[in-house]
Order: sequence, then C-alpha cells, then structure tokens
Amino acid sequence: MTASPDAPDYPGLGRVLVVVPTYNEADNVRQITERLRAAVPEAHLLVADDNSPDGTGGIADELAAADPHVQVLHRPGKEGLGAAYVAGFAWAIERGYDVVVEMDADGSHAPEELPRLLNALRDADLVLGSRWVPGGKVVNWPKRREVLSKGGTAYTRLSIGLPLHDATGGYRAYRREVLEKIDLDGIASQGYCFQIDLARRTWQAGFRIVEVPITFVERERGESKMSSHIVREAFWRVGVWGVERRVSALRKVFRPR
Ligand code: GDD
Ligand code: MN
Repeated sequence: MTASPDAPDYPGLGRVLVVVPTYNEADNVRQITERLRAAVPEAHLLVADDNSPDGTGGIADELAAADPHVQVLHRPGKEGLGAAYVAGFAWAIERGYDVVVEMDADGSHAPEELPRLLNALRDADLVLGSRWVPGGKVVNWPKRREVLSKGGTAYTRLSIGLPLHDATGGYRAYRREVLEKIDLDGIASQGYCFQIDLARRTWQAGFRIVEVPITFVERERGESKMSSHIVREAFWRVGVWGVERRVSALRKVFRPR
C-alpha cells in the first residue's frame, strides 16, 4: 500500500513529511494532528507508533482513514524513539519526500512554529528548533530537565566538539539528502541520544545546520518516557564518540607516509 506523496509542495522546499513517534499518546495524537494540519496544510503526517498499550495506534488509524494527509506506521513494540525515527525516515525516503520533520506528539513542539523551521531550511540542510538560543524558551519544564538538557549539550560540545546550543532537542527539519547520506542502518542509538547522534552525523558530513529559537511547552497530558536508562545511554555513547574522535585525530597525525 505505497501511498505516493501527492502532497502539494511547501513553497521552495518540495514535499514535506512530519514524522511523529508515539508511545502511549492516546490523549494527544488527535490534537497534534489537528494542529499540524491547520498550521501547515501542505505537509503529510506519519504517526510512528510502537504498538502503544493505550490504543494510540488505533486512534491514529481513525485519523488516517479520515484524512489522506495522515498515515500510520505500526511497529511491533517499544524499541525507543531512535528506532521509530529511523523507520519513519526510511519510509519517507522510499516515498520520495523532500523534507522530513521530527516532532513530538505531546504538544511540546508547537506545529504553529513549523513554518519558521521550514523557512529556515531554504538556506540550510538541517534546522534545529533550539530552546537555548536567544528567543528560545521552555514553559513548565522541571528545573532538573533544564539542567539535564543544558548539561547534555555542554557535555556533547566538550566530548565531540559539536558546536550547537541545543543538541538533544527533537524539533527538527531535514532535507532528504542528509538522511540519504547518513548511514541510517548503522544507527544504534535508541533513546534521546538519537538526537545527538543525528546532529553529529549531519555535522560530520559537512551539512549546514541552523538553529532557530522555539518555545518548548511541557506536556499537559500523558507522561514523558524519559528514564535513567535513556540518560545513561546518552552519557556513555557521547563518551565513546568523543574517544573515537580523538583516536581518529591522532591517527591522522601519526599516519605513516
Ligand atoms: N514510537 C515511539 N517509541 N515513540 C516514543 C518512544 C518509543 O520508544 N519513546 C518516546 N516516544 C515519543 C513520545 O510518545 C513523544 O511523542 C516523543 O517521542 C517524545 O517523548 P517524551 O517522553 O515526551 O520526551 P520528553 O518530553 O521527555 O523529551 C523531549 O526532550 C528531549 C530532550 O530535549 C523530547 O523532545 C526529546 O526528543 C528530546 O530529546
Ligand atoms: Mn514530551
């Protein structure tokens, strides 16, 4: 059932697919769909659901049945945000979308801000919605999450030199060329360090990354899937990438002629 992307072009960019990963977002999936459809009518939406026990996938099916701009990717079980996005990206590339957007289902990423991200993509390959650049902010986020987010970005900068202000953010727009160039099958990151991993790969491949300010609003319904496991995974992976980077820099210096 390959649906051809007959979405109208977003001016200057082509066909846009917004991938929204969901796990237990039954109270949010309708509203994010309605808001996105109103904010960017040209865009298509793919809900990538990990067989949520609360029935999110079934609700998404109803939304898809009522609107040809909405589609659902049913995955067998919870495998993490990273795996859901990798599957969604592959889905998008197969169907020839020109731009792929990452957006949370819980309303933290306002669809009304998406035109600003897309407009910035005209002069970039990856646009990052950033909470930690001037004009960006968070609303109702617990202090410990803010510390973790800023600390994670600082740690990433120290370890791998990634020159970004918000490396873990999950509101982004990619040109398809970036996702084609990156070895998607080689991505092992499961949790939120997937975001750092993709930013790192995009940067290392020499693509243009632009950060635009966003207002991140903490969810009102449902629960965050953040866990200590997700934090630990990010911590050790970023550490390993930092060591790899230093080893390869040394290799270049000492390479026998
Ligand atoms: N399919 C699938 N599978 N979706 C998932 C999974 C999973 O295993 N885990 C989380 N999600 C979905 C959620 O349903 C939601 O739509 C989105 O991914 C973000 O999850 P949240 O649990 O709401 O994340 P958060 O609010 O704690 O964290 C936000 O900030 C992080 C730090 O900046 C997100 O924007 C993260 O992407 C970001 O890394
Ligand atoms: Mn959230």
